[in-house]
Amino acid sequence: MIVFILITVCVVLYYIKFRYFRKHLYELSDSLPGVGYLPILGHIHWVIGGPEKIYKNIQRLGELIEGTGGISKIWIGPSLYVVISNPEDVQKLLETSLEKDSSYRFLRTWLGNGLFVAPLNLWKRQRRALVPIFANRVIEDYIEVFHNEAVTLVKQLDENLGKPEFDVFKHITSCTLDISFETAMGEKMDLQHTADSAYLHARNCVMSIINMRIFKPWMQPDAIFKLTPYSKTQEENIYLTRKFTEEVIAKRRIMHQNGIYKEGRKDLLELLLREDETKFNNKELREHLDAITIAGNDTTALTISYTLLLLGMHQREQELVYKELHEIFGDSKRTTTKEDLYKMEYLERVIKETMRLYTVTPIIARETKSEVKLSSCTLPPGVACIVPLFLIHRSKKLWGPDSESFNPDRFLPENSIDRHPCAYIPFSHGLRNCIGKKYGMLVMKCVLGNVLRNYKVTAKACDRLKMEILLIPVSGHLIKLEKRT
Ligand code: HEM
Repeated sequence: MIVFILITVCVVLYYIKFRYFRKHLYELSDSLPGVGYLPILGHIHWVIGGPEKIYKNIQRLGELIEGTGGISKIWIGPSLYVVISNPEDVQKLLETSLEKDSSYRFLRTWLGNGLFVAPLNLWKRQRRALVPIFANRVIEDYIEVFHNEAVTLVKQLDENLGKPEFDVFKHITSCTLDISFETAMGEKMDLQHTADSAYLHARNCVMSIINMRIFKPWMQPDAIFKLTPYSKTQEENIYLTRKFTEEVIAKRRIMHQNGIYKEGRKDLLELLLREDETKFNNKELREHLDAITIAGNDTTALTISYTLLLLGMHQREQELVYKELHEIFGDSKRTTTKEDLYKMEYLERVIKETMRLYTVTPIIARETKSEVKLSSCTLPPGVACIVPLFLIHRSKKLWGPDSESFNPDRFLPENSIDRHPCAYIPFSHGLRNCIGKKYGMLVMKCVLGNVLRNYKVTAKACDRLKMEILLIPVSGHLIKLEKRT
């Protein structure tokens, strides 16, 4: 009996202390509108179920929140998230709060302190060192690689001619990974010709485990996760994904130490080593290259695949893209140049509209480090905030009653003048935005340009989506191809 009383007293005291130290969060929560939550559990029932159900729930929750003026709250068990969707407040948050929220810690197991997940104290120095290697004059040098891999992709796609429907994503992702590895490390992975690569398998496995932890709150405590078989599987597969990068870095470091430098086009690793041999050790270099190849690959591959789906559903717009490509290339099969890519203005609008309707990074999150004054409240330091990019991009308030329909001309300069800078942020906003956005746009235009010069695409509507770290179609990116003559 005494033991029971002692335990009860301890629990009560712990709870009082817990509430006391989080007083600022409860006060903030009381000042914010919230919808659809249960006592104690909060909104946990909205994020239970498979990824498709979670997508639908979050979409529905977003609609409800939109009626609350663009700032609301979500409680997932004991964790409070302030949800911000009003562009003025999104701008304030993203320009002042550069620290990522603790939910990114699951990615940190894989990416270490690489730029994407780096804590703020390390991030500043890293970003300064990496910005020059994403300058236009550097990435434009890679267009030849983009083109050659796109030509291989077009040949691979030939195998699908005459098939009723096939999932184009696996072809696109192999192509973009080959591009990523060659431009980042100067190494040819040739995944386009290796269907069952151990690297791809390991990468997908790690992704799906991290994804599961983000969306299953009961798998989040390390103590519980380590008891599950997923922990060992994750460790083994992370080792496999790192092995390749580590070997390339070690080889290149030895070459440099022996005064042997890579001739010709310089990959990102070469640029980082040449800048200052001692700036980054091998582990840091690996984390940077992994962060770049991982953050930059699926985002680009998914956007290319969604663009093909949308053009497959919208033949008029596809013909306009084809006409533009024909004006640039005529009937020639020549290599794509930088000038060609800058002339693809209509295709760029199509890609932008695709990123609006299918925002592959649907949600980003930050943690405030200092007070942030928003339009209707002030956030104290230490508050987790969510910016639901996919809801902002489909908001009727911001995009009009036809916000769900595909219209690339929304991005004509004259139609974009009055748009708030944070009404459209597929690459995020502020100093911690996407470092690879120009690189990504050139890859997407080059790959799509090559595919659409060669094939006519058809596709059925894609309404069923699922929420993972990225936004994925439930049935894959199913398209049908016909050769252009
Ligand atoms: C369609 C293509 C892409 C999209 C939609 C996209 C989107 C984004 C978004 C939304 C963020 C911010 C994430 C957050 O705050 O949680 C981000 C960050 C980042 N992206 Fe991209 N990205 C794309 C392509 C690329 C490419 C091609 C690369 C590299 C080659 C890249 C590398 C990165 C890195 C390293 C960061 C972290 C930046 C930092 O924290 O300073 N991304 N991206």
